[in-house]
Amino acid sequence: NEDSLLDTFDRRARDLRISLTDFCNLRCTYCMPEEGVEFMSRDSAMSGDEIVRFVRIAVEKFGVDQVRFTGGEPLTRKDINEIIAGVAALEPRPNIALTTNAIGLDKRAAGLKAAGLDRINVSLDTIDPETFATMTRRPFLKRVLEGIDGAKAAGLNPVKINAVLLPGVNDAQAPDLLQWCLEQDLSLRFIEQMPLDAGHSWERTSMITAADIFALLEPRFVLTPDSAPRNGAPAEKFLVADRRRPDSILGTVGIIASVTRPFCADCTRTRLTAEGRVRTCLFSRTEVDLLTAMRDGASDESIANLWKGAHWKKLAGHGMDTDSFEQPQRPMSAIGG
Ligand code: GTP
Ligand code: 5AD
Ligand code: SF4
Repeated sequence: NEDSLLDTFDRRARDLRISLTDFCNLRCTYCMPEEGVEFMSRDSAMSGDEIVRFVRIAVEKFGVDQVRFTGGEPLTRKDINEIIAGVAALEPRPNIALTTNAIGLDKRAAGLKAAGLDRINVSLDTIDPETFATMTRRPFLKRVLEGIDGAKAAGLNPVKINAVLLPGVNDAQAPDLLQWCLEQDLSLRFIEQMPLDAGHSWERTSMITAADIFALLEPRFVLTPDSAPRNGAPAEKFLVADRRRPDSILGTVGIIASVTRPFCADCTRTRLTAEGRVRTCLFSRTEVDLLTAMRDGASDESIANLWKGAHWKKLAGHGMDTDSFEQPQRPMSAIGG
């Protein structure tokens, strides 16, 4: 497909991540400041119809076959079912995924599934109520666990869990979290914290690395690299066994080592912020506004051309390992994981 989203490093973006809102009902310390951020106004966010049109352009013109909705918290958008249904009606139908904190998911999972949602990833860093309240600044662990149960009951299997480990906060709980996920038939991925927190408090020297995660898990578990191909996925996967019964595989665990083992060279992503701006990378220093063009009456063709132009400028990688690295101005909540 010569019209795919290509960059100068010969990567093709087939995976579109769309932030539905920058609003969130949690305040995870690695993502948002306590007081929240100045949330965008309703009019500046893409409408449901605008989102579906952007996805249609991406599917028809660029061969995008994977769409993931993120936030902020995407479930705080009332029209998410209509958006998913609109995307599910496209030809060819892309795979549709959601990354959520699971609050309210118990009541909404069946509707999301019926609308066409294929896959769901839930952010959960700890199963200890006090640690949860410290990390998210909200006492909502029970609601999240109910949400996960609701997703499973609605047939959204497998549910993946994303856990960011913070030094001295939840890192020592990593084995307990893995044990629990194995018991609950949840597919856990541990994530290295990236410098995307609003408070700019990330420090390379204290962050929990993939190597640290191994060291934390190895006393209790035996991890064996999974031979299945990675296909540009951010997580490296491992088969897990209890150290006391090393021959019995209990499930898998993933490690997303964005900082110490960057996977930028295989990146297949393009992203839209909730305001309809292309961000070719989490760490982009520039964005290209497609929504204003759409609202000014631009054709599919010219919107696609703007998008392609933005993608052609995609950088080789986040450059976190260079001296010139600067943290993006937008915090994670305003980029959309
Ligand atoms: P799957 O298709 O289920 O593998 O989804 P995913 O892992 O791509 O998506 P998810 O939203 O669950 O993100 C998991 C982690 O990957 C989060 O910590 C994201 O911040 C991180 N991540 C997502 N996109 C990128 C990216 O473009 N670059 C880097 N370095 N990390 C990313
Ligand atoms: N570094 C790494 N992952 C992050 N997430 C949010 N902020 C950060 C960060 N600074 C994760 C969340 C969520 C996913 C979309 O991104 O845990 O699961
Ligand atoms: Fe909300 Fe997700 Fe950011 Fe936590 S990581 S504050 S759940 S957007």
